[in-house]
This record gives sequence, C-alpha cells and structure tokens, in this order.
Amino acid sequence: MKDQAERLREKVRRSQGAAVARTIAVTSGKGGVGKSNVALNLALSLMERGKRTLLFDLDLGFANLDVLLGYTPRLTLIDMVEKGLSLDDVIERGPYGLELISGGSGLGSLFHLDQGQINDMLDKLDTLSKRLDYIILDTGAGLSAESLRLMLAVDDIWLVTTPEPTSMTDAYGVIKALCKYNGEINLHVIVNRCYTPVEGVRTARRLQTVAKQFLNKEIRYLGYLPNDPSVHQAVLSQTPFIKLFPACQAAQAIAVLTARYLNQPLQDNARREGRGLRSFFKQLIAPFLQKGTG
Ligand SMILES: Nc1ncnc2c1ncn2[C@@H]1O[C@H](COP(=O)(O)OP(=O)(O)OP(=O)(O)O)[C@@H](O)[C@H]1O
Ligand SMILES: [Mg+2]
Repeated sequence: MKDQAERLREKVRRSQGAAVARTIAVTSGKGGVGKSNVALNLALSLMERGKRTLLFDLDLGFANLDVLLGYTPRLTLIDMVEKGLSLDDVIERGPYGLELISGGSGLGSLFHLDQGQINDMLDKLDTLSKRLDYIILDTGAGLSAESLRLMLAVDDIWLVTTPEPTSMTDAYGVIKALCKYNGEINLHVIVNRCYTPVEGVRTARRLQTVAKQFLNKEIRYLGYLPNDPSVHQAVLSQTPFIKLFPACQAAQAIAVLTARYLNQPLQDNARREGRGLRSFFKQLIAPFLQKGTG
C-alpha cells in the first residue's frame, strides 16, 4: 500500500516536469558522527526499494566511502572534465551495483576550468540527473564556504548528530548558518549512536525547539540509529552494515529511516524547480562564474 502511494507521488513529481533526481546532502557539524555510514547504507537501502540511486563522495581529501566499501574508484569528476572523459567513464559501478562518483581531491579544481569545460560538465550531469531518482552526497563536516554552498544547492539535507552536547551544538551551528542564507531549506535530523529510542527523540526535540525559538525554523526528525557494535564490525570488514548484518539493529533503523523519508510528503520549496545536479553544480561554481571568467 505504502509502495503504491510512493510510486504515485513519484509519478506526479515526474509528470510535473521535475523529472530530475532529488539531491540529498548528508552532513554534520561535528566530524566522525556517522555521516559516511548513513550515506552509504541509506543509498543501498534506497536501491533495495527499487530507487535508482547514485552516491557522490564529496568528503574531499578523505576517501571515506572507498574505505567503507573496500572499493576505490579509478577516476573522479575532475578527471572527467580535465581529460574530456564521458560521464560513464567516471561513474563506477561498485559493489552491490551501487553507482558511485568520487568528487576527486578537491572541488577547488573546478574553479580552474574554462567556461567550455564547465558547460560540458553541466550537460553531462544533466543527463545523469534525468535517469536517477536520488543522488546522495556524502559531505565533510563543518562549515567551510564550499560545504555551505553545497548544502544550499541540494533538495534535502540530512543532518547527522549524536546525542552528545558537542555534536548537537555543532549541528545547531550548521542549521543557523544555513538559515541565514535560506530559511526555506529542507532540514531532516538523524540522531546516530543512541542507546535508547528516547535518546533520539529527546536529542531531536532539543534541536527542534532551539531552531524554532531562535530561528523560527521547523526541522523534521527522520529518526535515530542505535549505537550498534555491528557498525564497527562492518567498518572493520569494509562492508556496509546493512549488507554484512542485514538483521542488526542499525540495519533495521536504516530501513525505518528510508521508509519514513520515502513516505513523507515532498517538501518542494519554491526553489525546487530547475533543481537537480546541473543547478546544484552551477550554484557551487557560481563565485567563479561571477568573476567574469566565463
Ligand atoms: N550507529 C553506530 N554504532 C556504532 N558505531 C558507529 C555508529 N555510527 C558510526 N559509528 C562509528 O563511528 C565511526 C565514524 O563513522 P563515519 O565514518 O560514518 O563518520 P563521519 O561522520 O562520516 O566521519 P567524518 O566526519 O570523518 O567524515 C565509524 O567508523 C564507526 O566505528
Ligand atoms: Mg565521512
């Protein structure tokens, strides 16, 4: 029944001319809170539900996903542009059929491209965006100008925090910074490493309360992930936990998060139109374009 409603929603979205992949940035204020694990396992979970999903590693400089998957992409987005390769050359089909793109050693390289190369890249990303349902971006932690721009350019943000006060404070910092630029941004919070479900609800509620009180911003609580030794085991085995231990608590929680995300009404804010990977990258490299070089 739920699946049917989900399919209908997708159909409506596509028939409304928004037949582009929905972009999701998985981010956090504090590092090491579980972003890459969430991004990877949620991408695989979406695939298990028949969603065409691509995982984009933008945690620049640190090849997190490579390590978690035990798989290193040969080429990166930067290679595509600099070596004139096709998009298919740089999309790796990794384990479990997961499509992957590595952002390369730094999106900074994008700033050195000429206008022709940029247009070419945007066209290629456009094509890609039309044959996918979801593009999940694993970002670095914190508030660099680059990661802020990135977050402001996606459809949904999954903000990962743990119940620890330091992680929550940093998560609030991210919410505040984002709201300064776009009060309409779609924010979902995921509370990782909880010892009880109540801990997840309480942590989310605290964030929701301060965001509402000080920023007048509503945040959606997507759910929690338990602190589960299976996650650690899976990381050591370089295998995603939902594949290595499909029945573990964390895997069950991922299934709940995925279902909840897919079954919620789409929060299509006014800026949703014309989104997708093309506009996402356009926005990302906007400062460069504004310099008049293009
Ligand atoms: N739910 C969990 N239960 C137990 N351990 C966990 C859980 N989530 C994450 N971890 C542990 O935390 C470590 C860091 O996770 P991960 O690499 O996903 O974080 P990250 O936010 O992507 O880090 P970075 O900011 O460095 O990119 C994992 O290697 C794992 O050992
Ligand atoms: Mg990471």
